[in-house]
Amino acid sequence: MGLRIDKWLEFAKETALAGGKLAKRLSAGPVSVQRKGAVDLVTNADLAAERLVIERIRDSFPDHEILSEEAGGSGAGSFVWIIDPLDGTTNYAHGFPVYACSVALQVDGEMVAGAVYEPNLDELFWAGKSGGAYLNGKPIHVSSVNDLNAALLATGFPYDLRERPREVLDIFEKLSLVSQGMRRAGAAAVDLCFLACGRIDGFWELGLKPWDAAAAGLIVEEAGGRLTNLFGGAFDLNVPEILATNGRMHQEMLEVIGWH
Ligand code: IPD
Ligand code: CA
Ligand code: CA
Repeated sequence: MGLRIDKWLEFAKETALAGGKLAKRLSAGPVSVQRKGAVDLVTNADLAAERLVIERIRDSFPDHEILSEEAGGSGAGSFVWIIDPLDGTTNYAHGFPVYACSVALQVDGEMVAGAVYEPNLDELFWAGKSGGAYLNGKPIHVSSVNDLNAALLATGFPYDLRERPREVLDIFEKLSLVSQGMRRAGAAAVDLCFLACGRIDGFWELGLKPWDAAAAGLIVEEAGGRLTNLFGGAFDLNVPEILATNGRMHQEMLEVIGWH
């Protein structure tokens, strides 16, 4: 599968780059914002970036399936592209410059290629299965921090926070009190890529969707990080609660979270 992964990965990189650059261009405005739920938004840039990515996939891989945040899709089939055209929509709608375009390919249930492009930093992260993780062409690796007290952590809040505040905020409080610092930047794919390149040491979130962690999860794994659910069981894109760390404080974080 090696040569084919290279081809898919090149495509994922080019497409995430194009989608992210388009979103950045459109941020000059006017930006139209619509509500999907009480706090969940969609902008013209989500839709335009998604159209761009989907058209490219249809042109290059007409027999592949697509699962994308706004356009949907079943996610069933041997070859499935999993797309978050704009991760960090709330940031984007407010002009807060942290967002990204994420493109990943799953083959027979296994993630094989993924790319995340953050246009404000002009950073393209990518990984192919068993090929390592990269940032703008340079290999990246998770940090070596092995003490929660010295760790910089990150999280995000799910859109249904108002329905289950205690469940989400209890963990936030517990981990805030035992770590060196906590960041909450508003784009899960970017958080995970920051973990992959050692800028943060651990990340968790309740309420992720498959497209949030499809590309970035592979990037974390290929950068030497560890991903599980909050019980410590195998990472599964369809399970919304995830813990991702540099591996060294994974057990310690699971214990503080206290779900297992
Ligand atoms: C959201 C962002 C946010 C996270 C939410 C996601 P979207 O994705 O990644 O950081 O906290 O859980 O849904 O809606 O901006 O693509
Ligand atoms: Ca997202
Ligand atoms: Ca999105």
